Amino acid sequence: MFVTRRLPGDALARLEAEHDVEVWPERFPPPRAELLARAPQLEGLLSLLTDAVDSELIEAAPNLRAISNYAVGVDNVDVEAATARGIPVGNTPGVLTESTADLALALMLGLARRLSEGEAFVRSGEWATWEPGLMLGRDLHGATVGIVGYGRIGKAVACRVEGFGCELLTSSRSGGVQLPELLERSDFVTLHCPLTPETRGLIGDPALARMKPTAYLVNTARGPVVDTDALARALHAGEIAGAALDVTDPEPLPREHPLLGGPNLLVVPHIASATHATRGRMADIAVDNLLAGLAGQPMPHSATHGSLTLPEP
Ligand code: DGY
Repeated sequence: MFVTRRLPGDALARLEAEHDVEVWPERFPPPRAELLARAPQLEGLLSLLTDAVDSELIEAAPNLRAISNYAVGVDNVDVEAATARGIPVGNTPGVLTESTADLALALMLGLARRLSEGEAFVRSGEWATWEPGLMLGRDLHGATVGIVGYGRIGKAVACRVEGFGCELLTSSRSGGVQLPELLERSDFVTLHCPLTPETRGLIGDPALARMKPTAYLVNTARGPVVDTDALARALHAGEIAGAALDVTDPEPLPREHPLLGGPNLLVVPHIASATHATRGRMADIAVDNLLAGLAGQPMPHSATHGSLTLPEP
Protein backbone atom coordinates (compact mmCIF):
# COMPACT_ATOMS: atom_id res chain seq x y z
CA MET A 1 0.00 0.00 0.00
CA PHE A 2 1.22 3.48 -0.70
CA VAL A 3 -0.19 6.43 1.24
CA THR A 4 0.93 9.67 -0.33
CA ARG A 5 1.13 11.72 2.91
CA ARG A 6 0.80 11.29 6.65
CA LEU A 7 -2.82 11.75 7.74
CA PRO A 8 -4.22 13.25 10.95
CA GLY A 9 -5.51 10.87 13.63
CA ASP A 10 -4.78 7.18 13.99
CA ALA A 11 -6.72 5.77 11.02
CA LEU A 12 -3.56 4.63 9.23
CA ALA A 13 -2.79 2.25 12.12
CA ARG A 14 -5.81 0.17 11.03
CA LEU A 15 -4.37 -0.10 7.53
CA GLU A 16 -0.93 -0.95 8.88
CA ALA A 17 -2.43 -3.69 11.05
CA GLU A 18 -3.58 -5.54 7.93
CA HIS A 19 -1.23 -4.53 5.14
CA ASP A 20 2.32 -3.62 4.27
CA VAL A 21 2.08 0.17 4.11
CA GLU A 22 4.50 2.85 2.99
CA VAL A 23 3.57 6.40 3.96
CA TRP A 24 5.29 9.21 2.04
CA PRO A 25 6.97 11.14 4.86
CA GLU A 26 7.53 14.54 3.23
CA ARG A 27 5.54 17.77 3.46
CA PHE A 28 5.27 17.98 -0.32
CA PRO A 29 3.54 15.34 -2.47
CA PRO A 30 5.61 12.48 -3.87
CA PRO A 31 7.11 13.55 -7.19
CA ARG A 32 5.61 11.89 -10.24
CA ALA A 33 8.71 9.70 -10.69
CA GLU A 34 8.30 8.33 -7.14
CA LEU A 35 4.67 7.42 -7.77
CA LEU A 36 5.51 5.75 -11.08
CA ALA A 37 8.46 3.90 -9.51
CA ARG A 38 6.11 2.30 -6.94
CA ALA A 39 3.37 1.56 -9.47
CA PRO A 40 4.50 -1.97 -10.52
CA GLN A 41 4.25 -3.25 -6.90
CA LEU A 42 1.21 -1.23 -5.91
CA GLU A 43 -1.94 -3.04 -4.71
CA GLY A 44 -3.64 -0.18 -2.91
CA LEU A 45 -3.22 3.58 -3.19
CA LEU A 46 -4.38 6.21 -0.72
CA SER A 47 -4.02 9.45 -2.67
CA LEU A 48 -4.54 13.14 -1.95
CA LEU A 49 -6.04 15.79 -4.22
CA THR A 50 -2.47 16.89 -5.01
CA ASP A 51 -1.65 13.54 -6.68
CA ALA A 52 -2.51 12.97 -10.34
CA VAL A 53 -3.86 9.42 -10.43
CA ASP A 54 -4.20 9.37 -14.19
CA SER A 55 -4.39 6.62 -16.80
CA GLU A 56 -0.58 6.47 -17.12
CA LEU A 57 -0.19 5.71 -13.42
CA ILE A 58 -3.08 3.26 -13.40
CA GLU A 59 -1.69 1.40 -16.43
CA ALA A 60 1.74 1.26 -14.79
CA ALA A 61 0.19 -0.52 -11.77
CA PRO A 62 -0.96 -3.97 -12.98
CA ASN A 63 -1.63 -5.22 -9.41
CA LEU A 64 -3.60 -2.18 -8.27
CA ARG A 65 -6.92 -3.25 -6.70
CA ALA A 66 -8.19 -0.15 -4.88
CA ILE A 67 -7.76 3.63 -4.97
CA SER A 68 -8.94 5.71 -2.04
CA ASN A 69 -8.83 9.48 -2.42
CA TYR A 70 -8.58 11.58 0.75
CA ALA A 71 -11.12 14.15 -0.53
CA VAL A 72 -14.70 14.32 -1.67
CA GLY A 73 -13.58 15.66 -5.05
CA VAL A 74 -12.05 13.09 -7.38
CA ASP A 75 -11.05 15.37 -10.24
CA ASN A 76 -7.41 14.30 -9.67
CA VAL A 77 -8.30 10.66 -10.36
CA ASP A 78 -9.12 9.21 -13.77
CA VAL A 79 -12.16 7.35 -12.47
CA GLU A 80 -13.00 6.06 -15.94
CA ALA A 81 -9.56 4.53 -16.45
CA ALA A 82 -9.77 2.90 -13.01
CA THR A 83 -13.28 1.60 -13.66
CA ALA A 84 -12.20 0.14 -17.00
CA ARG A 85 -9.60 -1.88 -15.05
CA GLY A 86 -12.18 -2.90 -12.43
CA ILE A 87 -10.48 -0.79 -9.73
CA PRO A 88 -12.88 0.88 -7.29
CA VAL A 89 -12.25 4.53 -6.38
CA GLY A 90 -13.29 5.79 -2.95
CA ASN A 91 -13.83 9.34 -1.72
CA THR A 92 -14.85 11.06 1.52
CA PRO A 93 -18.26 12.71 1.08
CA GLY A 94 -20.55 13.83 3.89
CA VAL A 95 -18.04 14.31 6.71
CA LEU A 96 -16.69 17.56 5.31
CA THR A 97 -20.03 19.09 4.30
CA GLU A 98 -20.62 21.18 7.42
CA SER A 99 -17.01 22.36 7.80
CA THR A 100 -16.94 23.45 4.17
CA ALA A 101 -20.25 25.28 4.51
CA ASP A 102 -18.94 26.99 7.67
CA LEU A 103 -15.92 28.24 5.77
CA ALA A 104 -18.07 29.49 2.87
CA LEU A 105 -19.97 31.64 5.38
CA ALA A 106 -16.73 32.81 7.00
CA LEU A 107 -15.48 33.88 3.57
CA MET A 108 -18.70 35.73 2.73
CA LEU A 109 -18.65 37.62 6.03
CA GLY A 110 -14.89 38.14 6.03
CA LEU A 111 -14.95 39.62 2.54
CA ALA A 112 -18.07 41.74 2.82
CA ARG A 113 -17.11 43.07 6.28
CA ARG A 114 -13.47 43.56 5.28
CA LEU A 115 -11.97 41.55 8.13
CA SER A 116 -8.45 41.10 6.73
CA GLU A 117 -8.21 44.77 5.81
CA GLY A 118 -9.45 45.74 9.25
CA GLU A 119 -6.94 43.51 10.98
CA ALA A 120 -4.04 44.78 8.87
CA PHE A 121 -5.16 48.36 9.60
CA VAL A 122 -5.13 47.81 13.36
CA ARG A 123 -1.81 45.92 13.35
CA SER A 124 -0.09 48.58 11.23
CA GLY A 125 -1.01 51.26 13.76
CA GLU A 126 -3.23 53.17 11.32
CA TRP A 127 -6.31 52.96 13.56
CA ALA A 128 -6.47 56.52 14.88
CA THR A 129 -10.11 57.02 15.85
CA TRP A 130 -13.70 55.88 15.29
CA GLU A 131 -14.87 57.27 11.95
CA PRO A 132 -18.38 57.20 10.47
CA GLY A 133 -17.09 56.19 7.06
CA LEU A 134 -14.29 53.82 8.07
CA MET A 135 -14.21 50.42 6.32
CA LEU A 136 -17.80 50.35 5.19
CA GLY A 137 -18.76 46.96 3.84
CA ARG A 138 -21.93 45.20 2.82
CA ASP A 139 -24.45 43.12 4.78
CA LEU A 140 -24.90 39.41 4.40
CA HIS A 141 -28.20 39.50 6.28
CA GLY A 142 -31.02 40.22 3.89
CA ALA A 143 -28.80 39.75 0.82
CA THR A 144 -29.61 37.54 -2.15
CA VAL A 145 -27.27 34.54 -2.15
CA GLY A 146 -26.86 32.48 -5.32
CA ILE A 147 -25.67 28.91 -4.77
CA VAL A 148 -24.15 27.24 -7.83
CA GLY A 149 -24.26 23.46 -7.38
CA TYR A 150 -26.91 22.23 -4.98
CA GLY A 151 -25.53 19.01 -3.55
CA ARG A 152 -24.74 18.33 0.10
CA ILE A 153 -22.48 21.35 0.59
CA GLY A 154 -24.70 23.73 -1.37
CA LYS A 155 -27.65 22.68 0.80
CA ALA A 156 -25.64 23.14 4.01
CA VAL A 157 -24.76 26.67 2.88
CA ALA A 158 -28.45 27.28 2.12
CA CYS A 159 -29.40 26.35 5.71
CA ARG A 160 -26.88 28.80 7.06
CA VAL A 161 -27.79 31.77 4.85
CA GLU A 162 -31.49 31.19 5.49
CA GLY A 163 -30.63 31.80 9.14
CA PHE A 164 -29.22 35.16 8.05
CA GLY A 165 -32.57 36.05 6.43
CA CYS A 166 -31.11 35.89 2.93
CA GLU A 167 -33.05 35.34 -0.25
CA LEU A 168 -31.84 32.13 -1.82
CA LEU A 169 -31.30 31.32 -5.48
CA THR A 170 -29.90 27.99 -6.59
CA SER A 171 -28.69 26.67 -9.91
CA SER A 172 -27.66 23.09 -10.53
CA ARG A 173 -27.97 20.25 -13.04
CA SER A 174 -31.13 19.12 -11.31
CA GLY A 175 -32.97 22.41 -11.07
CA GLY A 176 -33.17 25.95 -9.73
CA VAL A 177 -32.85 29.01 -11.90
CA GLN A 178 -30.65 29.32 -14.98
CA LEU A 179 -27.07 30.39 -14.17
CA PRO A 180 -27.34 33.77 -15.99
CA GLU A 181 -30.36 34.73 -13.87
CA LEU A 182 -28.59 33.69 -10.67
CA LEU A 183 -25.52 35.73 -11.60
CA GLU A 184 -27.57 38.82 -12.41
CA ARG A 185 -29.67 38.75 -9.23
CA SER A 186 -27.24 37.62 -6.54
CA ASP A 187 -25.34 39.78 -4.04
CA PHE A 188 -23.16 36.77 -3.20
CA VAL A 189 -22.44 33.99 -5.71
CA THR A 190 -21.05 30.93 -3.95
CA LEU A 191 -19.73 27.90 -5.88
CA HIS A 192 -20.39 24.34 -4.71
CA CYS A 193 -20.22 22.26 -7.89
CA PRO A 194 -17.66 19.55 -8.64
CA LEU A 195 -14.95 20.18 -11.22
CA THR A 196 -16.02 18.44 -14.42
CA PRO A 197 -15.47 19.25 -18.11
CA GLU A 198 -18.80 21.15 -17.93
CA THR A 199 -17.89 23.30 -14.91
CA ARG A 200 -14.25 24.05 -15.83
CA GLY A 201 -14.10 27.80 -16.50
CA LEU A 202 -17.81 28.19 -15.68
CA ILE A 203 -17.11 31.58 -14.11
CA GLY A 204 -15.20 33.39 -16.84
CA ASP A 205 -15.53 36.80 -18.52
CA PRO A 206 -19.18 36.38 -19.61
CA ALA A 207 -20.32 35.15 -16.18
CA LEU A 208 -18.41 37.86 -14.30
CA ALA A 209 -19.85 40.51 -16.63
CA ARG A 210 -23.35 39.37 -15.64
CA MET A 211 -22.69 39.84 -11.93
CA LYS A 212 -23.67 43.09 -10.21
CA PRO A 213 -20.75 45.48 -9.59
CA THR A 214 -21.70 45.26 -5.89
CA ALA A 215 -21.67 41.43 -5.82
CA TYR A 216 -19.11 39.06 -4.31
CA LEU A 217 -17.85 35.75 -5.67
CA VAL A 218 -17.00 32.94 -3.22
CA ASN A 219 -15.25 29.71 -4.28
CA THR A 220 -14.84 26.74 -1.96
CA ALA A 221 -15.33 24.19 -4.79
CA ARG A 222 -12.33 23.81 -7.11
CA GLY A 223 -10.04 26.52 -8.47
CA PRO A 224 -10.51 25.79 -12.18
CA VAL A 225 -14.30 26.37 -11.94
CA VAL A 226 -13.23 30.03 -12.09
CA ASP A 227 -11.14 31.44 -14.94
CA THR A 228 -8.36 33.01 -12.86
CA ASP A 229 -7.27 35.55 -15.48
CA ALA A 230 -10.84 36.68 -16.01
CA LEU A 231 -11.33 37.08 -12.26
CA ALA A 232 -8.09 39.06 -11.91
CA ARG A 233 -9.26 41.38 -14.71
CA ALA A 234 -12.72 41.77 -13.17
CA LEU A 235 -11.27 42.68 -9.75
CA HIS A 236 -8.78 45.16 -11.17
CA ALA A 237 -11.54 46.75 -13.29
CA GLY A 238 -13.98 46.88 -10.36
CA GLU A 239 -16.47 44.80 -12.32
CA ILE A 240 -17.48 42.95 -9.13
CA ALA A 241 -17.13 44.03 -5.49
CA GLY A 242 -14.74 41.24 -4.50
CA ALA A 243 -13.87 37.59 -4.38
CA ALA A 244 -13.18 35.18 -1.52
CA LEU A 245 -11.34 32.03 -2.51
CA ASP A 246 -10.49 28.87 -0.63
CA VAL A 247 -9.39 27.25 -3.89
CA THR A 248 -7.45 28.74 -6.78
CA ASP A 249 -6.05 27.81 -10.16
CA PRO A 250 -3.14 27.21 -9.91
CA GLU A 251 -2.73 25.96 -6.37
CA PRO A 252 -0.77 27.37 -4.69
CA LEU A 253 -0.90 30.82 -6.29
CA PRO A 254 2.63 32.14 -6.92
CA ARG A 255 3.36 35.26 -4.84
CA GLU A 256 3.65 37.47 -7.92
CA HIS A 257 0.38 36.21 -9.48
CA PRO A 258 -1.76 39.09 -10.86
CA LEU A 259 -4.77 37.83 -8.92
CA LEU A 260 -2.98 38.48 -5.61
CA GLY A 261 -2.34 42.05 -6.73
CA GLY A 262 -6.07 42.56 -7.24
CA PRO A 263 -8.21 44.62 -4.86
CA ASN A 264 -10.96 43.18 -2.65
CA LEU A 265 -9.62 39.67 -2.60
CA LEU A 266 -9.70 37.36 0.40
CA VAL A 267 -7.80 34.15 -0.19
CA VAL A 268 -7.02 31.19 2.07
CA PRO A 269 -5.06 28.00 1.27
CA HIS A 270 -7.71 25.33 0.51
CA ILE A 271 -8.71 24.83 4.14
CA ALA A 272 -12.49 24.36 3.94
CA SER A 273 -12.29 20.87 5.45
CA ALA A 274 -9.38 21.72 7.74
CA THR A 275 -10.74 21.13 11.21
CA HIS A 276 -9.28 18.51 13.56
CA ALA A 277 -12.53 16.55 13.61
CA THR A 278 -13.23 16.66 9.88
CA ARG A 279 -9.75 15.77 8.68
CA GLY A 280 -9.71 12.89 11.18
CA ARG A 281 -13.06 11.59 9.90
CA MET A 282 -11.84 11.90 6.32
CA ALA A 283 -8.86 9.71 7.23
CA ASP A 284 -11.17 7.11 8.81
CA ILE A 285 -13.32 6.97 5.69
CA ALA A 286 -10.33 6.88 3.34
CA VAL A 287 -8.92 3.89 5.26
CA ASP A 288 -12.34 2.16 5.42
CA ASN A 289 -12.67 2.58 1.65
CA LEU A 290 -9.22 1.16 0.99
CA LEU A 291 -9.68 -1.80 3.33
CA ALA A 292 -13.03 -2.64 1.74
CA GLY A 293 -11.70 -2.30 -1.80
CA LEU A 294 -8.73 -4.54 -1.04
CA ALA A 295 -11.01 -7.13 0.52
CA GLY A 296 -13.10 -7.15 -2.65
CA GLN A 297 -16.05 -5.60 -0.83
CA PRO A 298 -18.03 -2.51 -1.87
CA MET A 299 -16.39 0.66 -0.59
CA PRO A 300 -18.51 2.53 1.99
CA HIS A 301 -18.08 5.68 -0.13
CA SER A 302 -17.43 5.01 -3.75
CA ALA A 303 -16.90 7.55 -6.52
CA THR A 304 -17.05 4.84 -9.16
CA HIS A 305 -19.90 5.29 -11.61
CA GLY A 306 -21.59 2.25 -13.06
CA SER A 307 -20.49 -1.33 -12.84
CA LEU A 308 -17.01 -2.56 -11.99
CA THR A 309 -17.60 -5.90 -13.67
CA LEU A 310 -15.02 -6.29 -16.37
CA PRO A 311 -16.34 -7.08 -19.84
CA GLU A 312 -15.79 -10.67 -21.05
CA PRO A 313 -12.54 -10.86 -23.04
C1 DGY B 1 -12.26 17.81 -0.92
O1 DGY B 1 -12.42 16.93 -0.11
O2 DGY B 1 -12.51 17.66 -2.12
C2 DGY B 1 -11.72 19.12 -0.42
O3 DGY B 1 -11.40 20.00 -1.42
C3 DGY B 1 -10.56 18.91 0.54
O4 DGY B 1 -11.08 18.40 1.68
